[in-house]
This record gives sequence, C-alpha cells and structure tokens, in this order.
Amino acid sequence: FRLQTRRQYFPPQHICRMADKKYLIGGNWKCNGTKESVAELVQTLNNGGDFPANAEVVVAPPFLFIDSVMQTIRPDIAVSTQNIGKNTKTGAFTGEIAAPMAKAFGLNWVITGHSERRSMEGETSAIVAEKSKIALDNGLSVIACCGEQLSDREAGNTLAVVLEDHLQAMVDAFSTEDWARVVIAYEPVWAIGTGVVASPEQAQEVHAAIRKFLSEKVSPEVSAATRVIYGGSVKGSNAGTLKDCPDIDGFLVGGAALTADFLTIINAVA
Ligand code: PGA
Repeated sequence: FRLQTRRQYFPPQHICRMADKKYLIGGNWKCNGTKESVAELVQTLNNGGDFPANAEVVVAPPFLFIDSVMQTIRPDIAVSTQNIGKNTKTGAFTGEIAAPMAKAFGLNWVITGHSERRSMEGETSAIVAEKSKIALDNGLSVIACCGEQLSDREAGNTLAVVLEDHLQAMVDAFSTEDWARVVIAYEPVWAIGTGVVASPEQAQEVHAAIRKFLSEKVSPEVSAATRVIYGGSVKGSNAGTLKDCPDIDGFLVGGAALTADFLTIINAVA
C-alpha cells in the first residue's frame, strides 16, 4: 500500500474547490499559557483586523482558559476544546469534561485524536472514533486528527496508517449525516513542532488520498464537502503555498497559533 502518483489521487472533479467551502484555520494552544499571556494573545487576535471572507477561525485553549477566552475573544473566532471525555453524560467521571457539558457551556468544537493524545494518553483509533462520535451526538463539531509517525512514512506505511487505521475507525463510527460536522486534520507526526513542514506535494498526496478514501467509503458528496486541513509546522511563511494545494482546506496550527503569526496564516487563505 504505497503512495500513488498525484494523478491517480487527483480526479478532475476534485481540482476545483467547492466555491462555498471556507478554509478552517484552527489554533491549537496545547498546554500553554498563563492568565496574562492568554489575555495578551486574545488582544492580539482581536486587534488583527478583518479576516478573509473565506476563512473560518477556531482556537482551542486549555480547559482552564476556555471561559475567559469565550468571554473576551472576537465573535468571529470560535472556541474549541483540545480533548473531550469518553463519558456520554456528566456524573462520577473524575477529571473528565463531558460532551453534553461542553455543548451546554456554549462550545461548538472539539479536537479529537491529536497525535499527542494518541502517544501520551494511549488513545487508540477506536477511542478517538468513540469520543468523536459522542461529541457529534451531542451537537459538537469535531476536528478529528490523523497522521503517521516518521517510522511509518519511512516504512512506506503512511496511507495504511492514515486511511486503514485512523480514518477507517471514524468511517465505521460516523453516520453519513455526522460528516457535515467533521473536519479531518492530517498532521504527520514528524512535522508537528519540529519546524519540518510537509512539502505541498507530500501534503497534497495524502489529502487527495483521504478525499478518495472518503469518496469510496462514505460518498462522493461527503468527500467533496468535508474539509481536510493540514497541521505540522504551519507558519505564515509556508501557509500560502500549502493552501494552494487543491485538497488542503485549511490548517491546524500549534506553535504559531500562540503568536501574531496566526493572523498571517489566517490572511494567507484570502
Ligand atoms: P505545530 O503543531 O504547528 O507546532 O507543528 C501542530 C499541531 O500539533 O496541531
């Protein structure tokens, strides 16, 4: 199962972006921030001027800061969690945040399956799919992450991991209607926080493969409508070339989302 040529994954009907499809730019703040630095970052974003009409922006602060960010951030930036509990209801689940609790709190987005949760917390593809489904069932939209380790890529297993493991579990768990509230974030682990961004060719190849997989496993309509965003060392300086790839529908940004460079990335999709 090896990467095929761009042409094979690049059927002509996918060359044009759907006209009404907005780029999604997500800022994953990870486990960073103090009250002061978060207030400063919100101020920077609030003073960042108009966003392009084709940009939808979401930030994911640590749970501790979600309330203050929701109260102070500009209305055209949505707020997301970085994780969600596997429990379907509130109650005796120490340390967890439940999907219905997040929804009732006013949140509309969650990130699931980030590689740091997969590696640090042992979240398997089945757990990621289960959490995502619980979030969807509670009215939340999901940024569901997938992506191979460097060793997978070097062994020629990129698509086996991304498609047959990470995405297949989601395909099995989600209904066709669920996909309207799913964004897939392709984040090659070797590119996360390393400064080694995937080349536009490397990213496009996997994004096109994801598109083809969704077309075959769910439906061509879902495949065309689902946003597939790229994450891994995205910066203002490389966002412009990446967004020109026909199957890249936005970004999930870590390090650069903590700085004013996030505004440059947002503006790059104009
Ligand atoms: P990075 O992180 O932009 O710092 O590489 C991306 C992510 O983990 O979502």
